[in-house]
Amino acid sequence: MTSRQVSTQPFDDQKPGTSGLRKKVTVFEQPHYLENFVQSIFDSLQGFAGQTLVVGGDGRYHNDRAIQTILRMAAANGFGRVLVGQRGILSTPAASCVIRKNHAYGGIILSASHNPGGPDGDFGIKYNIANGGPAPEKITDAIFANTTSITRYLTLDTPDVPLDAPGTTKVGAMAVEVIDPVADYAQLQQSLFDFPAIRALLSGGRFRFCFDAMHAVTGPYAREIFERQLGAPAGTVINGDPLPDFGGGHPDPNPTYAEQLMATMFADDAPDFGAASDGDGDRNMIVGRHFIVTPSDSLAVLAANATLAPGYAGGISGVARSMPTSAAADRVAQALGIACYETPTGWKFFGNLLDAGKVTLCGEESAGTGSNHVREKDGVWAVLFWLNILARRGQSVEQIVREHWARFGRNFYSRHDYEGVDSAAANGLIADLRAALPGLPGRVLTTTSGATMTIASADDFAYTDPVDQSVSRAQGIRIGFADGARIVFRLSGTGTEGATLRVYLERFEADPARHGVETQQALAGLIEIADQLAGIRARTGRTQPTVIT
Ligand code: G1P
Ligand code: ZN
Repeated sequence: MTSRQVSTQPFDDQKPGTSGLRKKVTVFEQPHYLENFVQSIFDSLQGFAGQTLVVGGDGRYHNDRAIQTILRMAAANGFGRVLVGQRGILSTPAASCVIRKNHAYGGIILSASHNPGGPDGDFGIKYNIANGGPAPEKITDAIFANTTSITRYLTLDTPDVPLDAPGTTKVGAMAVEVIDPVADYAQLQQSLFDFPAIRALLSGGRFRFCFDAMHAVTGPYAREIFERQLGAPAGTVINGDPLPDFGGGHPDPNPTYAEQLMATMFADDAPDFGAASDGDGDRNMIVGRHFIVTPSDSLAVLAANATLAPGYAGGISGVARSMPTSAAADRVAQALGIACYETPTGWKFFGNLLDAGKVTLCGEESAGTGSNHVREKDGVWAVLFWLNILARRGQSVEQIVREHWARFGRNFYSRHDYEGVDSAAANGLIADLRAALPGLPGRVLTTTSGATMTIASADDFAYTDPVDQSVSRAQGIRIGFADGARIVFRLSGTGTEGATLRVYLERFEADPARHGVETQQALAGLIEIADQLAGIRARTGRTQPTVIT
């Protein structure tokens, strides 16, 4: 069957953000919109004729239709085989796993991660390379360049491919293999963690665990792994049926949006351990009984306890964290005598470090943790890692974290998000901060309680990749204080409405006697200073952040 060439014109808004192209579903529903982007991906790649592509998504609204479009276009462009998850489902880390295991050329993942779904919600698409990780900037820049000049795309006139059951169908000359979305992924996890020890913990009747899949992609993964393979009682996984609109919820595992899990974990009869994952299964939230673990602390705890998990028993080579993530992991790396890398926000920056063997664990303050087992962050993996540690240490989540702080000190940390802010106001705020940077060091600021803080450093974070020397500039405004505290300001690259201003606040406390202070209270002075420096209230008209994590 010969491919059909369809004439098209560029859209001017197809620049990929922190993690692929994310837009409202209604934007993706415009004729040619998805096709233009997919063709621009293919046009920026070479040598894929006859090769294997992996395709899957988080099951959100529009996933099914988009997959059929992509299958026809992949065939028309000359791919030899597509591996697609049953019913079009693959969590982001499972897609990474499948790409790697099958030595695929690359993969297309359909997801808008933690953003709401449904006809009025968000949709997204991103391209992953052969290592299983998000395409680096070199490729996303080329894709974007193609979207600005595209004149045609290639497709076939073929019927929809049935995706309901495993099996193989032909689309033109290309084979479409429908695969079990969970099997390869579950097998990989078994090779990393002490399943017998976790099974003893979960099926012993004393330890209680609640996993909130938030009606998103991890439901089937969590039921198979936690309930079937590890013997947790049925019902351990809540909201386990994936829904195209996530049940109307916001599938972002944080204390604001994971309401049901929070209510469960803070009830009088709370379970011992709670966790949640996001829309596409790459984020994780870890909660103990009446105790939230910040993602930055979670990364540090995993690094400090890594050798308890069989897959990491030989030790970890290094740790990487995104720049706004707290330095808690740095302290562990220092104690272990291993390297710690600071990268820009977004998982694509970890790929080279992982491929080069420079790091084993990576994490972001935005509930993303992962390792060299795949090239994406991995929600269920992080939960299994915690279960492995809990099973081996026999302590509560809170005890483990408090002991960690006592040993390494505590990095008080919080992120304040101002969502849906007027774009001009947000851009102006960042531009003015950037312009003010040279004059900031040495400036002394005073809080209403009379405390003073001196700025020691101020810059716009630029990163040189230690492996390929590529440079990424303008990755966030960093203000460092004489006592080691810091504030970071940056704009989100994943939102679809207006701008989201993120303000990251961090202060180190060595003294265990002061580790019990409530986080927002511990950071109160810094919160005031952030407003003094950036004029957040005056410029955005907001008196409170939309979300505090
Ligand atoms: C956000 C997070 C970032 C994460 C990304 C994709 O990006 O901050 O850490 O990698 O989502 O999950 P942002 O919206 O800040 O650009
Ligand atoms: Zn996600």
